[in-house]
Amino acid sequence: MGVYMSNKILFINGSPRRNGNTSIGVQWVQEGAISKGATVDLINLASMKNVGNGCIGCRRCQKSEEYRCFINDDISKAVYGMTNYHVIVFAMPLFFGTVPAQMKGFMDRMYSHIKIKNGHSANPKFENKAFVMLATAGAENSNGLLFLEEYIKDFALEFKTRLYSFIIPSCNADPNVLLEKFNVREQAREFGEKLASIGVINV
Ligand SMILES: Cc1cc2nc3c(=O)[nH]c(=O)nc-3n(C[C@H](O)[C@H](O)[C@H](O)COP(=O)(O)O)c2cc1C
Repeated sequence: MGVYMSNKILFINGSPRRNGNTSIGVQWVQEGAISKGATVDLINLASMKNVGNGCIGCRRCQKSEEYRCFINDDISKAVYGMTNYHVIVFAMPLFFGTVPAQMKGFMDRMYSHIKIKNGHSANPKFENKAFVMLATAGAENSNGLLFLEEYIKDFALEFKTRLYSFIIPSCNADPNVLLEKFNVREQAREFGEKLASIGVINV
């Protein structure tokens, strides 16, 4: 009998609504992942008091050998700690065709995980990790979400990670409508099950 290893997954929820569509998607994917033995943690950006603090471009992260953001707040800590997970899920609603400000602020602070001098290198701790985009949108067609996916794919490339995505279009502003979509729930759970064991090893 081999040793069974399951992923540690960090969910970063960038929706400003604590109980909105994105949170429902996060819960469903988490349920699937947990059912397959994954460990999950959740950061709700909306409840972090420094959520408005974006990258200030000080470049202290670039002058340092460390891969950390030198702004002294909770976002820095969260950005620093993300390397302790195999899989990092960026969950967000689509806002005007792109990333909501709360999530963009977090992503910009991840500049501290790359070094620009002498070319471009990412924190080696991201090797073999996977990024995931979990996104919801109001529009019935998926165009906006696919555009978002292209953007996040480029972002993942900066860290040399692979991107997996799960998109939920046609979301009513009232999250109770999504709660009734049992087929979406099923797909989200199955996606979560896969995340538990996608081939990432060594944190
Ligand atoms: C400021 C704002 C901008 C939005 N822009 C778009 C958009 O460009 N395309 C789209 O399909 N839906 C858009 N929506 C709808 C949301 O993406 C959708 O309702 C989403 O599921 C909300 O997630 P939440 O319930 O987690 O807040 C927008 C909503 C808001 C509040």
